[in-house]
Amino acid sequence: MKKATVGVVSLLCFSLAFFVFFFVLGTQAKMGMERPMVVKADGKALWDYLKKENYARNWNIWPGKNALYPGKEPHGALLTAYVNKVAYDAIKEKRGMFSDGSIIVKENYTADKKLAALTVMYKVKGYNLMVGDWFWAKYLPDGKIAAEGRVDACIQCHSMAKANDYIMIAPLK
Ligand code: HEC
Repeated sequence: MKKATVGVVSLLCFSLAFFVFFFVLGTQAKMGMERPMVVKADGKALWDYLKKENYARNWNIWPGKNALYPGKEPHGALLTAYVNKVAYDAIKEKRGMFSDGSIIVKENYTADKKLAALTVMYKVKGYNLMVGDWFWAKYLPDGKIAAEGRVDACIQCHSMAKANDYIMIAPLK
């Protein structure tokens, strides 16, 4: 009788341990899936990520644009726009829209080729649904944040190109 009880109890303990183990494993896998694929929508985190990526070296320049192309107001006389891989593929395949994780870094130069600021658009699913889900950021050359987040001024002007996923530089299709 006693032996049987011990048997049942250990069986219960064993099943419980088994259950807990897989429950934890499952939760972690789920968390992994929900984690933002690139970096969180935060000015500082994004800047650190861009430095780490060394985008000017490792990313492509916007297809069809050169480095230091003559830009339009308000961004600067000369512009260089870099795109990460996800963004690059969307442009090349003429998808007409960017997908989650796309990053565009635009370096804004003065007429005498001095870097004046960096403006960045980062697509984060669910971040700002009504206006294209873009996280906006403006940095000074040393990384100081001049604006970040759901920045009204950026959104308002770029809304001209709402049908082009808020992109002004070129048609996406
Ligand atoms: C008054 C209008 C205006 C405002 C305000 C503005 N932009 Fe732009 N933006 C433009 C135009 C025009 C271009 C295209 C530049 C070119 O190719 O000459 C552009 C291009 C860009 C690009 C390259 C990708 C694209 O959308 O074409 C980024 C990135 C960008 N802007 C970020 C920002 C951020 C961040 C802000 C706010 C801090 C901002 N912009 C505010 C007009 C504006």
